[in-house]
Amino acid sequence: MTILTRRDFVTSTVAAGLALAGHRVRSRLADARIDVLVDEPIGTIAPEIYGHFVEHLGGVVYDGVWVGEKSRVPNVGGVRRALVDALRAIHPGPVRWPGGCFADSYDWRDGIGPRERRPRRTNFWIDDSHFQTLGNVAAKYDPNEFGTNEFLRFCRLIDAQPYLAVNLRTLPARSFMEWVEYCNSPAGSTTLADQRSAGGDREPFGVRYWGIGNESWGCGGNFTPEEYAAEYRRFATWAVPTYGVKLGFIGSGPSGGDIDWTRRFFREMGERRSFDRMWGWALHHYCSAPNGEAVAFDDTAWYDLLGSANRMESLITSHWQVMGESDRERRVKLVVDEWGAWHKMTTNVDPTHLFGQQSTIRDALVAGLTLDTFNRHPDKVAMANIAQLINCIQSLFLAHEDKFLLTPTYHVFAMYAAHQGATAVRTESSAPPVSWKDGQGRDHSLWGLNGSASVKGDAITLTVTNSHLTEPRDTEIAVRGRVVRSVAATTLAARDVHDHNTFEAPRTVAPATANVPASAAPFVYRFPAASVTKLEITVGA
Ligand code: AHR
Repeated sequence: MTILTRRDFVTSTVAAGLALAGHRVRSRLADARIDVLVDEPIGTIAPEIYGHFVEHLGGVVYDGVWVGEKSRVPNVGGVRRALVDALRAIHPGPVRWPGGCFADSYDWRDGIGPRERRPRRTNFWIDDSHFQTLGNVAAKYDPNEFGTNEFLRFCRLIDAQPYLAVNLRTLPARSFMEWVEYCNSPAGSTTLADQRSAGGDREPFGVRYWGIGNESWGCGGNFTPEEYAAEYRRFATWAVPTYGVKLGFIGSGPSGGDIDWTRRFFREMGERRSFDRMWGWALHHYCSAPNGEAVAFDDTAWYDLLGSANRMESLITSHWQVMGESDRERRVKLVVDEWGAWHKMTTNVDPTHLFGQQSTIRDALVAGLTLDTFNRHPDKVAMANIAQLINCIQSLFLAHEDKFLLTPTYHVFAMYAAHQGATAVRTESSAPPVSWKDGQGRDHSLWGLNGSASVKGDAITLTVTNSHLTEPRDTEIAVRGRVVRSVAATTLAARDVHDHNTFEAPRTVAPATANVPASAAPFVYRFPAASVTKLEITVGA
């Protein structure tokens, strides 16, 4: 969405009022305006942008995804049934597994073969304090019950593509090559294909996406960009056989604004003409507010967090620009494979859920404004994976034993699913910006309304976040060059911005849907304060 200044807005509103005299009164009633420019396409929104992340970390896998076949918790082959049902409803993009930092400590061979014979290993995330605080739980000593076959079956159950993260720090390239063979070689062809079959899956899985290391500047090996580029090429140079799958290799990209990591890696790859071995460049961005509270935040922390999330826009454009200095043919796209709000871990639903946190409407706005940002850059962003699916940083679900709930972030993914595969179109927005002082008294400001729009046939999806904590926005919405036939609104807002869903009250923050009278053009819609909204607009010529 192009954000216009207040002055632009006044001018364009007056101009619209002059041209459409009948709407002058309506123009005066509105304090904001959005124009959907249907005939200005930007690109197709990759369904992969709506992806997820499952790491062996605290309660993500054990107690989250995997409950085991013998569990009293309803399950499908050991996977929590409620999770499967909820995910199927939102058409998930690719699911990344098994890490994160965990991936560079993981040997995929530990997670194949008969479950009762698989080794138990101390989890990467366990530090010395956990030896005092945690018993012999799966989060601490991973039983490897959930391995390659189980994960890939989970992906099939929810109709999502798998995205496997390869261990580059502690295993050789040969192990990667053999993992591809285990997953993708034809039935009956090799010993590894037979092992896969013995694990219950005769037919190949056809895994396409492979991440070559994770955060290789840090937990993934502490490499320099030049060292990592050499490692990357060693791992990714293997390209045949592909077992008929168009493999997509993803390089371990920067943390936030580390432009130097991108520039130096791309320079190395460019000098050796290696971009044909790379499909994606992973970017990680976690947003946070200084006081760090998930639920007990103040007004400043509301805006601080949204401001921090909004950095995604400049991260995408700045890394993209630097990538293009070396990758002139634009073969490599951005893969934002870790993003979300990372708060203090004081709101775990269970002590074994390391990094577990509650989620409010503020997190829903982080999700909405970030997905809108991806939607506005379909030419640059090929995939994204929110961190992490369940019981962790910014989760769509919280679960413990037989208890399960949908967070406000889940509802945003459900609302935004309509964008998947649609054509993103340019929009212009004008609304009073919000401004605030941070804890140090420094001034900040942020757009008041922002969003994205996409078109599929005669259906337009317009999603919008109103970042203002207390003020609703009466907004004129014009769909240029089309006649609006009907409008339905789905709105996610909260009575109190600290409200959150609990096992006892799981629908405290949930969306509401209503039809919107739209007989006039432009029509006026009131975006509630602190809300995420989807407008489904049906148009004619
Ligand atoms: O998502 C949690 C951790 O954050 C991941 O394992 C790591 O890649 C990142 O630092």
